[in-house]
Amino acid sequence: MRGRIPDSFIDELLARVDIVDVIERRVPLKKAGREWTACCPFHNERTPSFYVSPAKQFFHCFGCGAHGSAIKFLMDYERLEFPDAVEELAQSVGLKVPYEGGRDERPREDKTDLYALLDGAARWYQEQLPRSPEAQAYCARRGLDADTVARFRLGWAPAGYDGVIKALGTSERRMQLLTEAGMVASSERGSKYDRFRERLMFPILDRRGRVIAFGGRVLSAEQSPKYLNSPETPLFHKGRELFALWQVKQATANLARIVVVEGYMDVIALHQAGLPIAVATLGTATTPEHTEVLFRAAPDVVFCFDGDRAGRAAAWKALESALPRLRDGRQAYFLFLPEGEDPDTLVRKEGKEGFERRLKEATPLSEYFFAELARDVDTASLDGRARLAERARPLIARLPDGAFRDLMADELEKRTGARAALKPDVPAMRAVQRPAAVQRSLVRSAIALLLAQPGLAEQVAQPYGFLRLDKPGVALLAELIDLARARPGIHPATLVEHFAERAEYAALQKLLAATVVGEPEAQRAEFFDALARMEQQAITQRRDWLTARSRERVLDGAEKAELRELLAAKARPAATE
Ligand code: UTP
Ligand code: MN
Repeated sequence: MRGRIPDSFIDELLARVDIVDVIERRVPLKKAGREWTACCPFHNERTPSFYVSPAKQFFHCFGCGAHGSAIKFLMDYERLEFPDAVEELAQSVGLKVPYEGGRDERPREDKTDLYALLDGAARWYQEQLPRSPEAQAYCARRGLDADTVARFRLGWAPAGYDGVIKALGTSERRMQLLTEAGMVASSERGSKYDRFRERLMFPILDRRGRVIAFGGRVLSAEQSPKYLNSPETPLFHKGRELFALWQVKQATANLARIVVVEGYMDVIALHQAGLPIAVATLGTATTPEHTEVLFRAAPDVVFCFDGDRAGRAAAWKALESALPRLRDGRQAYFLFLPEGEDPDTLVRKEGKEGFERRLKEATPLSEYFFAELARDVDTASLDGRARLAERARPLIARLPDGAFRDLMADELEKRTGARAALKPDVPAMRAVQRPAAVQRSLVRSAIALLLAQPGLAEQVAQPYGFLRLDKPGVALLAELIDLARARPGIHPATLVEHFAERAEYAALQKLLAATVVGEPEAQRAEFFDALARMEQQAITQRRDWLTARSRERVLDGAEKAELRELLAAKARPAATE
């Protein structure tokens, strides 16, 4: 029974993991001084504003405001609930999550039991496989070796209506769980029977290697459907899961390329042939969620389809779901197979090398995109080019802001003479502009006022409370105050000349030239008011940060004390008496 996770464990866990490792495994980071940086995984952007601080064990995006601990990152990035994020982190450092209490709400308890039950089912099917000569013969005919059978936990669902029920449904509660897990079906009269019968069983694992569903294949062509999959259950969402993603991740730590094929047997054949880079969607089209999972697994994704019409339609669907995920650094390719072949038959004929050669020659998304759109238009005519442009524009607009989108727009222009009108990346722009504008005016007006009366510097209380505000210009203001303080009576223009070699010189000159209105006494009041407001903002910033963090985990002693102080705090007077 899953109870509450004790706070002390959360503390221990966060002390054990390194947030840089946790994030780096999912988002490639670049070193930037004492911190690490990347383009934010939570909004589209082309210049990095996402920072990870090893010292603070904290991430923060200056663009969209996303921030938090390693746990929070996993929750947001992998869309996990708090306990699952804790479980995943704990597993990565070999800790076991203790649960206390336990008279918890039912749903959690249910899920744990569901996992256990499905694992039991997989084990039971595995045990049945050696007992069925026909299933054994089928595996042999399909060329499956023992290692593959074990690695994919293949099994056999025997004939009869109550094999699984007898083995696992030994109580009312367990029957209820079997039903919830999609392992039994109900007849019209309400009697229950095994969903999977006389089928070769393919367990579907989640990204932590737990059994969440099954696919089952009949042995002979007469029976149908050929493949039967588990229905949607609390654990299994077809639109999100990929068959064999677990095995792919087990095989290679830093995958450069992942291949999406259509069938279970295709995946298995490729893995067995020494290409453990293949996954399959589960009897559904590729969804945007799939695409995101794929690109998180590897920067290059190859979509592999039959060359027939159905295959082309499926490929186009995959392209559409990939478009919004194609951030810079991610690339999609399309591989169409010859008539009558699938990856299973091909890799058996041509071997690992042959299939790898095909992968290398796969068509880049951009090429496939324009070829497919121009399929039935005459690009020699003005009309045809206009039609092509019309089709391409809305699709190109779905690409995230970045170099790739620009290139696609250029390509469209080259082919049609028409420019793709791209709507600006709204959330990113809004996020960048809003806070910056507000803060800058405050910092800037303080600088302008100081330049008007450098003498004010002597009255600024030390240490500078406003320095805690994490905004552009704040450090420059402090530097100006220091300088003016060290040179009593300094002339404003001379003060600015100290920055002649610096990037800020032009901006300072402008501020110096800007007329500051009002009586000296009013200016003085305004200056100290600006400093006080900056300090107040710094306090709010930090307080919100700590408050948000306290919702994720227990604050340590120092943080608690700081938060208490901040909650009580009023900005100290910015001027000395
Ligand atoms: P295929 O019929 O192309 O399967 O369906 P395959 O993998 O080549 O099968 P083999 O080689 O005959 O064993 C491709 C995929 O479509 C889904 C399955 O995921 C299958 O692997 N499918 C197909 C179903 O879900 N139900 C079906 O009835 C058929
Ligand atoms: Mn096949």
